[in-house]
This record gives sequence, structure tokens and C-alpha cells, in this order.
Amino acid sequence: MNSVQNKTILITGGTDGIGRELVMQYLALGANVVTCGRNQTKILELEAEAPKGSNLCVLNADVSVEKDCQRLVDAVVNMYGGIDVLINNAGISMRGLLEEGSRTMIPVIKKVMEVNFNGTLYCTSFALPYLIKSKGVIVGVSSIAGYRGLPGRSGYSASKFAVQGFLEAIKTEVVDKGVHVMWVSPGFTASRIRFSALDKEGNQQGATPMDEHKMMSAGACADLIIAGIAGKKRTVVMTFQGKQTVFLNKFFPGLTDRLVRMFYFRNGKLVK
Ligand SMILES: NC(=O)c1ccc[n+]([C@@H]2O[C@H](COP(=O)([O-])OP(=O)(O)OC[C@H]3O[C@@H](n4cnc5c(N)ncnc54)[C@H](OP(=O)(O)O)[C@@H]3O)[C@@H](O)[C@H]2O)c1
Repeated sequence: MNSVQNKTILITGGTDGIGRELVMQYLALGANVVTCGRNQTKILELEAEAPKGSNLCVLNADVSVEKDCQRLVDAVVNMYGGIDVLINNAGISMRGLLEEGSRTMIPVIKKVMEVNFNGTLYCTSFALPYLIKSKGVIVGVSSIAGYRGLPGRSGYSASKFAVQGFLEAIKTEVVDKGVHVMWVSPGFTASRIRFSALDKEGNQQGATPMDEHKMMSAGACADLIIAGIAGKKRTVVMTFQGKQTVFLNKFFPGLTDRLVRMFYFRNGKLVK
């Protein structure tokens, strides 16, 4: 897809972070962009900051709610007559050890699965007939945690493995229909995701355990995603650390177990 001028792009979770950067960059490229989020203040801020005259529609929709996803897809089709690119970006994270919250962690992990996996399932399913018609592109915003389970992020890792497995299967199902299915895997990217991540009790942790300044920016991440979609890549794995983790885990999983443990733990305590 060389030019996105007048193409219709549906990006879930475009009111903050990576999704917001994707929205702004696609608007600058002349695309029609529809996005969603749950927080009305962030929706109004995005609408206010979009360039005047650009084709942006922001809906209040929760991707973990099936009928919200149906409404979202219907709205895009009513407005623009079809969909060229679906980017399943909306996602939340969590942080907690299963052994420390073996009861409270169950609803936390279910919630993460509902947003990250079910959201991708619903939006992809409702949009698929239109993407077949347009020979469009389906994208999952996964993570390095979709290749390598990360401690303290068991539910998040499960959700991203699920997204990748689902999309890989769909890719093979629709390959002869001209639909391109891909997923992208950001490494650590500065955003609000760690602040809003659910702790073992299901509360937003409100702080980040990592140095956000040392991370890839959300803008740089969006650049790589847009280039990957334009080049119809199979996957895009981002950051040196991310690529190294995926490579080592594939060929040296035992060593990677030890390296990941060393990265996340100090004196037996989860510190990241
Ligand atoms: N940042 C990283 O280090 C990183 C690394 C790897 C992968 N990723 C992935 O990249 C994607 C974007 O993450 P981010 O870092 O940009 O996060 P973020 O800054 O927290 O932004 C998340 C966006 O998704 C929306 N959202 C969350 N839950 C939603 C729901 N149930 N329904 C609709 N919208 C929802 C949020 O708006 P509301 O809260 O208002 O709904 C917000 O607009 C996620 O899938 C994440 O897993 C991020």
C-alpha cells in the first residue's frame, strides 16, 4: 500500500500513546481515520488537536465489549463505505506475580485477555468482510511478550501470544482473498501503558517501574508500524533488545530464561 491518501484506516485505542501517534501520522498522510477509546477527556483532546480539515472520527467504544466493536465497524462503513486497514492497537497491561495473588490475579488476567485478545477478535471478525472487499490489511499490535513470556506479565504475555496465534491462523485462511494479515511487536516504548497497568488487586499501578526516558518514543514506534504496513511485512519486531530477546528465545531458550529472570528480578523480588 504505497499511498494511504483517501484510504480508510480503523485504529483501536488511538487516544493515547502509540495509537495516537498512528492517528496523527495517518491524518498527515491524507487518510480517513476512525479511532476509539474509553476516556471522554482524551477523546475530546484528540479531536481538538487533530489538524483542521483532516478526516478524523473518534468514538467512545470499549473493544472488550462485542457490541461496541460492531458499532465501531458499522460507523466506519457508514461514514466511508469500507475499511482498507484495521490496526488492532488498543491494549492494557498488568504487573503481578501469580504466587502473590493467586485469587485476585484471575480477574486481572481475564480483563487483560478481554481487552487485548477479545478486542482483536471482535474488531477483526466484524471488519473482515469489508477487508476482503478492499483487499486490505489487518494488523495486530502485539509485543515482544507475544514471543517470550515475561515474568509479572503472565496475562499480558498470554494475550499477545493469543493475538499472534489468531492472526497467523487468519492470515493463512484469507491468503487467497488478497487480505494481508500481519502483527507488529514494539519493544519498550514510552507511553502511559505501565502507569495504567493493573496490579495484582486489579488497580491501576499509577507509576512506572522503568525508566521511560530510555525507551523508544511512541512516534518512532508509529513510524515503524506505518512503514511495515506500507511494505506489507509479515511482522515487525522493534528495538535491539526486542530483536535480541526474540532471537535468543528461539535458539537458546534456557539461556533466555536466565537472562529474563536477571532482568526482572533482584534478590528474588520483581523489580521491573
Ligand atoms: N508501550 C509499550 O512499551 C508497548 C510495548 C509493546 C506493545 N505495546 C502495545 O501497543 C499497544 C498500545 O499501547 P500504548 O503503549 O500506546 O498504551 P497507552 O499509552 O496506554 O494507550 C492505550 C490506548 O488504548 C486505549 N484503550 C485501552 N483499553 C481500551 C479498551 N478496552 N477499549 C478501547 N480503547 C482502549 C486507551 O484509551 P482509554 O484508556 O481511554 O480507553 C489508549 O488510547 C498495546 O496493544 C500495547 O500492548 C506497547
